[in-house]
Amino acid sequence: MSDDPAQTLALARQRGSHGRQQDEGVLVIRTIAMPADTNPAGDIFGGWLMSQMDLAAGNMAGRVAQGRCATVSVEAMQFLHPVKVGDEVTLYATLCKVGRTSMRIHVDVWARARYSQDAEKVTDADFVFVALDQNGAPRAITNDP
Ligand SMILES: CC(C)(COP(=O)(O)OP(=O)(O)OC[C@H]1O[C@@H](n2cnc3c(N)ncnc32)[C@H](O)[C@@H]1OP(=O)(O)O)[C@@H](O)C(=O)NCCC(=O)NCCS
Repeated sequence: MSDDPAQTLALARQRGSHGRQQDEGVLVIRTIAMPADTNPAGDIFGGWLMSQMDLAAGNMAGRVAQGRCATVSVEAMQFLHPVKVGDEVTLYATLCKVGRTSMRIHVDVWARARYSQDAEKVTDADFVFVALDQNGAPRAITNDP
């Protein structure tokens, strides 16, 4: 840290800032991977990550469709690097396509080791959500505000 308080504050703010790893993606979820989320080997369980991704895409889908939605497919999921306990896990969602009743949402997941400044992409996937009516049937997505 510098002797100049202003510079110290600026540096600290930069360190504390969450930054952006995605040009287009919207930061939807940021969370910390906890011991309860591990697999028997001690790394973070892939199913936990998938659940966070479904939550992130579902959050965006609900906002876009302005109502109830369901996941209808998950495609092209890949796990690139393991996530460790204590990692800061950030999920970015990008709306790729809106159909009559469906939305394709790409989710990128980045992990940052707890005391590091660097994050790396650990997984991504395409989610398709369908807007539903109160009977659970597909519902047209409108442009109504
Ligand atoms: C979502 C659901 C109502 C859709 O019913 P459906 O009879 O397949 O509906 P449709 O054939 O009219 O398809 C609706 C839209 O989804 C799209 N779609 C359906 N299956 C899809 C698939 N496997 N992949 C990508 N898109 C798909 C269709 O192309 C259509 O898009 P569009 O209206 O934008 O053109 C039904 O599949 C369902 O209830 N699934 C279970 C959902 C759920 O419980 N999710 C949580 C799992 S724990």
